[in-house]
Amino acid sequence: MQKTILVTGGAGYIGSHCAKLLSKKRFRVVVYDSLVRGYRDAVKYGEFFQGDIGDRASLDALFTSYPIDAVMHFAAFIAVGESVEKPDLYLTNNYEKTLVLLDAMAAHGVGKFIFSSTSALYGDPQYVPIDENHPLNPVNPYSRSKAQVEQTLREREASQGLQSVVFRYFNAAGADSEGELGERHDPETHLAPLVIRAALGAGKPLSIFGTDYDTPDGTCVRDYIHVNDLCSAHILGLEHLFAGRPSDVFNLGNGNGFSVKEIVATVEKITGKKVPCKYEARRAGDVSRLIANAEKAKRVLGWKTDYPDIRDIIGSALAFQKGRS
Ligand code: UFG
Repeated sequence: MQKTILVTGGAGYIGSHCAKLLSKKRFRVVVYDSLVRGYRDAVKYGEFFQGDIGDRASLDALFTSYPIDAVMHFAAFIAVGESVEKPDLYLTNNYEKTLVLLDAMAAHGVGKFIFSSTSALYGDPQYVPIDENHPLNPVNPYSRSKAQVEQTLREREASQGLQSVVFRYFNAAGADSEGELGERHDPETHLAPLVIRAALGAGKPLSIFGTDYDTPDGTCVRDYIHVNDLCSAHILGLEHLFAGRPSDVFNLGNGNGFSVKEIVATVEKITGKKVPCKYEARRAGDVSRLIANAEKAKRVLGWKTDYPDIRDIIGSALAFQKGRS
């Protein structure tokens, strides 16, 4: 029988791509989004229900109206810098409101949950590539809010039998290959879209935050993973839960690190245009390098990436940005 999946934050970047893949895989999709940071026109797949995850009455109406089999929870604020400035906002929006969602699920008998967590909760790593057993050291309120939800999921499994798959994303990038969806944040803080806009002359010169990190060229190193590869892992995570397999935590990344300067060079190569750059101080809350060991997702879920090459990841982001300008 067709399963119905609730996608919170389905008008956002990763949620909208996942809603598309779920629909293609013949799941019934219900998108729930407050539109505070999401875009109504990014909801191209599934039915749309506007609401806030902290609004229990709205959630009760939703769970009463649709036979939800599982929840994919993307709704969150995601800017590390903003979280340092406004820690309470992140505690409330990402953690406390998730408790409201989990309470509503429990009240309506929905017991399967896929959670978007982050590699940021490993802090400055003790070793790379980082596996799931690496100690957690959330150094900013954003990653702390994700760690708190992870802890709650473990407790709710023990107390209520909630089953969950937690995905710790490394750096999501890229866009839908059909050009329908892509990365949109306002203001944009993420590296790939900002480098691309600078190259296209559609944005400001790129500020490179910090050149004195303990990395080969002094700029921060990240593991960029295509948004569609994240989505394919989510489908496998759902199937894992529907098959009755145990709750688990998985890193999602390619296992390759690229510095800020290497991303700039990649964009310059693909576009044939020089990226105007200026060097600035380190950004608060940033760690030097994050590189995934994602072997567990491959081994346990059978996950394979379709976009392991950084040029394809950046190329798809470029195609989306060009389509908008
Ligand atoms: N950077 C710049 N200039 C910019 C923007 C970013 O130099 O204008 C640098 C950052 O300092 C960082 C790297 O580029 O070193 C990547 O920065 P992003 O903002 O693109 O991504 P983050 O690594 O800070 O964070 C992102 C998501 C988080 C997620 C994290 C996991 O925003 O939600 O990846 O690594 F938790």
